Amino acid sequence: MTDDVKKAVRDQYGKIAVEGGSCCCGSAMSSCCGPAETSAESAADGARLDTVPAGADLGLGCGSPITLAAIQPGETVLDLGSGAGIDCFLAAQHTGPMGHVIGVDMTPEMITRARGNAASFRLGNVEFRLGELENLPVEGATVDVVISNCVINLVPDKRRAFAEAYRVLVPGGRLVVSDIVLASEVPPGLREWVAGYVACLSGAALESEYLAAVEEAGFEGVKVRERAPFISSPSDPFVEEIARGCGVTEQEAGDIAARFMSVRVSARKPAARDTRGGDD
Ligand SMILES: C[S@@+](CC[C@H](N)C(=O)[O-])C[C@H]1O[C@@H](n2cnc3c(N)ncnc32)[C@H](O)[C@@H]1O
Repeated sequence: MTDDVKKAVRDQYGKIAVEGGSCCCGSAMSSCCGPAETSAESAADGARLDTVPAGADLGLGCGSPITLAAIQPGETVLDLGSGAGIDCFLAAQHTGPMGHVIGVDMTPEMITRARGNAASFRLGNVEFRLGELENLPVEGATVDVVISNCVINLVPDKRRAFAEAYRVLVPGGRLVVSDIVLASEVPPGLREWVAGYVACLSGAALESEYLAAVEEAGFEGVKVRERAPFISSPSDPFVEEIARGCGVTEQEAGDIAARFMSVRVSARKPAARDTRGGDD
């Protein structure tokens, strides 16, 4: 299942990168979902959209990690599953030219598109690397802030992804992720639904398991900072798609849909302890 899922995710996001925008995560479905504030919307509050290339926002996020990350000038930021680069370009406004922003994505077409976006704005301090969250192409203890927007639900081994995020952060470094989680378990049929996986549904973990995976990686201060329904209404066209995809009634699908939450989670890597002993 893992290999099939990753191939389906890569194929679908490759198509979106070439053809243009989508709606809520990379849904191949007809509907858009959720009231979650997107990165582009939050950018409209304060960031300078004129420094964000137009092709960077493909409508794939499910929240906005940037506003919570409190990125400071000169910091190094890593975006996990950077897509066409929207959050990287927003982060670069906060780091300034002395900072450094790295986006990592496993889909070659996304990396090509993101690099083209960076080149069009001559942003020399924003770079995109092809790679997987489970094996980040980033040196250990070199990053101040790890962000991610609607990606870790797509990763079959979430523990491994959080362990990698922990490895690359400097002591005291921050993690801020927007993602989709479950308030309660869904029927096994949904887990087998590959199109649902690509649409950020079938791979979603229970919120409690998600937070436990962050803690197990070594993070402290793990906190849900915001939580909102991902599929906001029983009449959302997504409900019909779930019914069709999982072979359940519309009523059951409505009940399943109500369990998906869009969350913002923050945590930090413990600061280095002062090992200078007082005994000698
Ligand atoms: C829903 S899109 C979000 C893109 C971006 N964060 C945004 O908000 O526009 C998910 C992205 O994660 C990437 N992705 C999924 N699983 C991944 C993995 N295991 N390693 C690296 N990238 C992954 C996909 O290629 C895709 O570009």
